[in-house]
Amino acid sequence: NLAGLDLRAEIDRLRREKNAVILAHYYQRPEIQDLADYIGDSLELSRKAAASDAEVIAFCGVKFMAETAKILAPEKTVILPDVNAGCSLEDACPPEAFKAFRAAHPDHIALTYINCSTEVKALSDIIVTSSSAETILAQIPRDQKIIFGPDRHLGGYLNRKFDRDMLLWPGVCIVHEAFSETELLKLKAQHPGAPVAAHPECPPHIIDHADYVGSTSGILGYAKQLPGDTLIVATEPHIIHQMELALPGKTFIGAPGADGNCNCNICPYMALNTLEKLYLALRDLTPQVHIEESLRLAAKTSLDRMLEMAS
Ligand code: 13P
Ligand code: SF4
Repeated sequence: NLAGLDLRAEIDRLRREKNAVILAHYYQRPEIQDLADYIGDSLELSRKAAASDAEVIAFCGVKFMAETAKILAPEKTVILPDVNAGCSLEDACPPEAFKAFRAAHPDHIALTYINCSTEVKALSDIIVTSSSAETILAQIPRDQKIIFGPDRHLGGYLNRKFDRDMLLWPGVCIVHEAFSETELLKLKAQHPGAPVAAHPECPPHIIDHADYVGSTSGILGYAKQLPGDTLIVATEPHIIHQMELALPGKTFIGAPGADGNCNCNICPYMALNTLEKLYLALRDLTPQVHIEESLRLAAKTSLDRMLEMAS
């Protein structure tokens, strides 16, 4: 029974006692963002995990992010407050099916979005995040054939922007897929001149209306340079917390789903992590991420390529 516990103070005490660092993605609940040691996008959080000298990494994000931390920092204890915090993109790409797809295209390399299982990373050549994909793709010769998975919207965006013809795996993020073009156009009409910032996981009918397309940290950077006073944000709305902290005088509006509000675009997996579960995970050091060593090494090869090529 956790009633009566000062969870913030207890989490602080446990973090010191266990020499733990708390990493949080921008899509976490505000109360988790507020007590994290670092907040970031997928690339930044992987780098923090690899460089940290803490003994324990409490990863407030989703499973593939915590697994990435473990792949890069195997000597550390990596805990994830809720073991069921998955990702629809990971679910859309079963390793066996991905392996068969690769085998059917032996002359293609696999450029793979970090939102996938460790098994799929191990079957890939180079991993990308939304913030590193453009830099990495620009380094791959134009005549190199490429399979891109699991996000067909990010892959399609890259194909259009760089005039490439990567073969796309048919996965989508259920959160970004839920934005409504009709409702977005209504919102734009209500706020004339307000720019739209969108994550590249959005479908093309949303990207087409965006003034800026980028990763979560890219969108936050764009918000900080905003010339006007209002921004429409087409990504998971919890990132707005950081915008409001940094720019209290400005207005940030989450892009709507078909029901006209942005609550349907909350990532249900990210939302599984709560302060209570973070407290229990730090107290009991469970649930922990474990990865079999040969699988870890195979996945690390493609992640290391990303870290080299992204810098
Ligand atoms: P970023 O790397 O841009 O933070 O994206 C992670 C993610 O899961 C977006 O849905
Ligand atoms: Fe996965 Fe989408 Fe949630 Fe990101 S927002 S973790 S891509 S389901």
